[in-house]
Amino acid sequence: MSNIMLIDACNLKCSYCFANEFVNVSRNEISLEAFSKALEFILGDGSESCVGMIGGEPTLHPLFDTMMRMAITDERAKSIMLYTNGLLLHEHWDVCCHAKTHLLINCNSPTDIGEGAFKRLCENLEILLEQKMCKDRVTLGINMYKPDFEYRYLIDLLKKHKLDHVRVSITVPNMDGQRNTDAHAYFRLMKPNVIRFFHELLANGIIPHFDCNKLPPCLLEKEEIEGFYRYFSDPFIKENIDKSNIANRHVTCAPVVDIRQDLTAVRCFGLSSCTKQRIDKFKGIKDLKNYYYRTIDAYAWNSAYSSACSSCYDRQVLSCNGGCLAFKIEEILRLAEYAERRLGE
Ligand SMILES: C[S@@+](CC[C@H](N)C(=O)[O-])C[C@H]1O[C@@H](n2cnc3c(N)ncnc32)[C@H](O)[C@@H]1O
Ligand code: SF4
Ligand code: SF4
Repeated sequence: MSNIMLIDACNLKCSYCFANEFVNVSRNEISLEAFSKALEFILGDGSESCVGMIGGEPTLHPLFDTMMRMAITDERAKSIMLYTNGLLLHEHWDVCCHAKTHLLINCNSPTDIGEGAFKRLCENLEILLEQKMCKDRVTLGINMYKPDFEYRYLIDLLKKHKLDHVRVSITVPNMDGQRNTDAHAYFRLMKPNVIRFFHELLANGIIPHFDCNKLPPCLLEKEEIEGFYRYFSDPFIKENIDKSNIANRHVTCAPVVDIRQDLTAVRCFGLSSCTKQRIDKFKGIKDLKNYYYRTIDAYAWNSAYSSACSSCYDRQVLSCNGGCLAFKIEEILRLAEYAERRLGE
């Protein structure tokens, strides 16, 4: 799936935000003309049928409803994915509750966003899930951004609304200083609370699914994995756990492509600083994604951020690339440059 960035402004300032090269630097609203070109670029070659609306906070765009309607009424779009912090949904019920609209709601804790904003989020979830009956098109998500990240508030929300799945990310570091390091140290720091959180989720019949930056299998002890087997006595967990990527060893990453307001694209926000490309240089979204596969992803499997990864079987069989590619982007770019030089010789 590929996303259109409607606006850089956001009504929150999440410390972990990986779009922080752009977010809240200025408002930078996409024009209707640029939106229409971006929509055509994503849907035009027939390779994609889902369009993502992203920001900043996309619901802040003054023409948000108009743009959502343009995407919804485009027959080539089977679904629209709205990435939102949920605080302004009450201003846009019609488009948010449309049968084609799916919502990924980034739920921050009351400590992080303040009691007032959290109350608003809870009120909007109540309406969306209980009154508007949109449950099957809504996924709540959490960004696990520090070793003692809070999660109680989210479990309460999931239980209250009888939601049986949740999207989780171990945040991709957004500061240059944290990139190009041995990511194992970062994952080790995050792991204890992630495991506690997963136990509480599974004990409550809720299955987590990793979005970005999954915990690599080499960091999980046999006993830690076996500790989760007890939840198989719950028939729902037993039947559905295989649909989640927590049940397998694979750690992979593919271009998601965010198209900016000036019609430049990035492979993903985590690699925004080094993957900017004007979309008019490409025939369509498939062509652009292939370009990212050739120039970034192809080298990711041959690069490593630690000596453990260099000799690892999971990497050699293309099963684990170590988590977010930002951890080893310097090495990836170095390899890409070397390969291009050799090709030119
Ligand atoms: C940049 S936000 C923009 C849309 C909206 N404001 C929101 O928060 O959902 C898009 C997505 O990026 C995710 N995200 C933000 N920072 C991240 C990070 N450091 N690592 C992984 N995902 C992150 C959020 O959870 C959200 O789903
Ligand atoms: S993650 Fe979303 S809500 Fe948080 S600052 Fe970034 S754009 Fe705003
Ligand atoms: S490639 Fe191997 S050593 Fe590196 S993070 Fe993945 S499983 Fe661990």
